[in-house]
Amino acid sequence: MKVLVVGNGGREHALAWKLLQSPQVKRCWCVPGNGGTALLERCENIPLAVEDIEGITQVAIQNKVDLVVVGPEVPLSLGISDLLREKDIPVFGPTQLGAKLESSKSWAKSLMTEAGVPIAKGKSFTNAVEAKAYITQQETPIVVKADGLASGKGVIVAQTASEAYAAVDYLFKAGFSPILVEEYLIGEEVSILAITDGITVRSLLPAQDHKRIGEGDIGLNTGGMGAYCPAPIATSDLLQRVDKEILQPTVAALRNRGIDYRGVLYAGLMISPQGEPKVLEYNCRFGDPETQVVLPLLKTPLDQVILACVQQRLEEFPPLCWHLGTAVCVVVASSGYPGKYKKGKLITGIQEAEAIGVTVFQAGTALEGDRLITDGGRVLGVTAIRENFSEAITEVYQGVDCINFDEQYYRRDIGYRAQSRKD
Ligand code: AMP
Ligand code: GLY
Repeated sequence: MKVLVVGNGGREHALAWKLLQSPQVKRCWCVPGNGGTALLERCENIPLAVEDIEGITQVAIQNKVDLVVVGPEVPLSLGISDLLREKDIPVFGPTQLGAKLESSKSWAKSLMTEAGVPIAKGKSFTNAVEAKAYITQQETPIVVKADGLASGKGVIVAQTASEAYAAVDYLFKAGFSPILVEEYLIGEEVSILAITDGITVRSLLPAQDHKRIGEGDIGLNTGGMGAYCPAPIATSDLLQRVDKEILQPTVAALRNRGIDYRGVLYAGLMISPQGEPKVLEYNCRFGDPETQVVLPLLKTPLDQVILACVQQRLEEFPPLCWHLGTAVCVVVASSGYPGKYKKGKLITGIQEAEAIGVTVFQAGTALEGDRLITDGGRVLGVTAIRENFSEAITEVYQGVDCINFDEQYYRRDIGYRAQSRKD
């Protein structure tokens, strides 16, 4: 089998790495890929932008690929799956309409309301005066969000009404409309990545990520500074409820709207102190860095279960098998991220890190000749799998200590919540 992975993050390195472990997968192309995918055996990078969905489709046709796996949300929201399906190329990832689950929060909210899925109360607005009038009547803190894709920069948790008014002005000025004003939910977040063929849905192991830049989960939101799996907060009771009350009704509601959704359904949940789950957001793709902890634990060949989704036979596919143990990933970033940062710094120590048993998934890296250099904000993720959290955390930081580049930044507290619950 020949596969093509779209994207260039740690998620896509992990996807290509896992797919190539399957005995069925002979070759892989990553578009555009990164320094890590360039070095994988039997893998080749093709330098096209992820937005170039026509170019990517041509690459798939020319190389007669048997499966395309789409990493990021942008090409999905541009309709890459529609295009590939028209050309009879099997693709894992929803159509443009299905991707609205992520690309339009108000569309997703109306679908979830229709499906009876628990969500935060809220309203969408196309003008600032009405949004502010609504805020005046609500309690604080309150959340103001861009409706559309905003690369993690579209959510503002306002502590006071005047902060919320400022957030409304900021989002409209930045060109976002509609915007959403939403009740602030308290609790602990968990990421449930599920796969679906549009009829049946199966959860992968639950993960948690650390979205904030600072230790103790403070500061600006990022794409994710680290993750761990399985997340101890997600008990089997909770997972059953999520399946029955959230995932299955969502898939049924998508089908009712005539949407043939084959791909990842990633529910970002808030679990209240009483243990009640609510959906904060849906994503229509694998999470990053969650993928860097979920996939290393998967024993079932990834290509086989993905094919079962694409060919709509997930119901008859055997239960997924998992390695025992705990995976922890620490993201090493360029100092300054998620704001401005420098690129082009020489990266060393990856082999030394891997020699102690961790896996390094590259993200913002590039090969310049045979020099590996930094090329993005989140540069790489180091993942350790051990029997328990304490051991995994110790090992992952031993791995991180081996990695070196100028002006690196990482959080030293990844997994602190899980560790306080477990071991
Ligand atoms: P989203 O892109 O909607 O997932 O939001 C990004 C992050 O903002 C989430 O992971 C939460 O940490 C936070 N957030 C979003 N919505 C809410 C909410 N209603 N209540 C509390 N925190 C929220
Ligand atoms: N880790 C959050 C995301 O992938 O959106």
